Amino acid sequence: MFSVPPPRLDRDESWQGVNPFSRVPEIRDNPYPELKYAREHHPVHRTDVGDYQLFRHADVVRLLKDTKVGVRTTDGVLPGADEATYPRRFMLQQDPPNHARLRRLVSRGFTPPAMERLRPHVQALVDDLLDRAANGVAHFDVIDDLARPLPSTVICQMLGVPLSDRELFTDWTAQITHLLAPRILSEPQRLKSYDAAAKLIEYFNALVIERKSTLGDDLLSTLIRAEEAGDRLTGEELIVQAIGLLIAGFETTIGLIGNGVRALLMNPDELAKLRAKPDLIAPAIEECLRYDGPIAGTMRVLHEDAEFGGITIAKNTPMFASIASAHRDPRVFKEPDRFLIQRDHSAHLAFGGGLHFCLGAHLARMESQIAIGTLVTRFPKLALESEKQIWGDSLFRIQANLPVRI
Ligand code: HEM
Repeated sequence: MFSVPPPRLDRDESWQGVNPFSRVPEIRDNPYPELKYAREHHPVHRTDVGDYQLFRHADVVRLLKDTKVGVRTTDGVLPGADEATYPRRFMLQQDPPNHARLRRLVSRGFTPPAMERLRPHVQALVDDLLDRAANGVAHFDVIDDLARPLPSTVICQMLGVPLSDRELFTDWTAQITHLLAPRILSEPQRLKSYDAAAKLIEYFNALVIERKSTLGDDLLSTLIRAEEAGDRLTGEELIVQAIGLLIAGFETTIGLIGNGVRALLMNPDELAKLRAKPDLIAPAIEECLRYDGPIAGTMRVLHEDAEFGGITIAKNTPMFASIASAHRDPRVFKEPDRFLIQRDHSAHLAFGGGLHFCLGAHLARMESQIAIGTLVTRFPKLALESEKQIWGDSLFRIQANLPVRI
């Protein structure tokens, strides 16, 4: 018996590659059979516009980690992005030496001790959100009531952005996220994303002017001090790092908490193990990241000619690394389609790898360990209202709603 249908070899002729951001409902619900087909039959695939897609774990790792092979940009601009308006000065869009300078400045706010100091605050926030959600009712929504307010509150507080403005960002950040995949943007989406970027830039410009007179110990003040100290950070770079953090730390964490809760509720034996031994929350979150993480993949550009899967690919070719496919590669993960919280996850790539390894990984882990750990311990009868998935308007794998019974 196959739980996933065997690959259909007869599709080879017309196979078009994978659209990692497909909105086709069956593919969005479960992209993994399609990725399996790609990984086994077209592991290094040339798309009709001449880009390449990589589906095997070893190839994805090499593209991300070997800086002689994969770089982030060509002259600072991702192919397809509009140089004039794209907020391309975020560290993720930069190569060395600019990347190292920006990362060093921002990472001051993200040291593991700084993150650990946030732990009691995050726990209090989660307790408060769950108190409100479960107040006298038998149902609530994991996304609206927990997964969305938690990361946005934490990142706003870290940056020193007024919490009362949080609602403004929810849609703007989701729209701007689409700019991370400029080559597949539709024209209407491009306009929506640029409009949202313009509004957020205007908002942060005003906030920075105001903050300059009342510097505090928040991350925005730290960045302003770096700007004022000389040529280490330009005004534009400052605004873009702040916006980038808001985007990077917000949607992704919603996806991890939502997809993670769903995976646990769909796998009651694994959930029972976690409830019996709450210390398993750390490995359980790593399995959530591997099994159905929020990021389908990422782009690089070839720094020099390179060979993948016996094919020589020319310098400057845009490459898509399918993280979601790498996570189901049986060469690395035994029985990859099973959700097993105690497996060895050390090779997962949910936070990327190499120079651009996620700066917020420690924060994301802590927030989701506390959120999911508290949720499943506090509500022993927690159950999904429906198995149907309700997807959000995001580039990432993020559910818009996840109704549960308690
Ligand atoms: C579950 C949550 C998260 C996931 C799955 C995630 C994933 C990733 C991935 C895959 C990358 C690398 C992209 C690439 O190499 O192309 C990345 C980079 C980054 N992430 Fe995260 N992230 C998460 C949460 C956060 C949070 C909470 C923050 C900060 C508040 C954050 C800040 C960043 C930054 C600043 C970078 C760029 C690092 C650099 O270019 O050096 N992320 N993230």
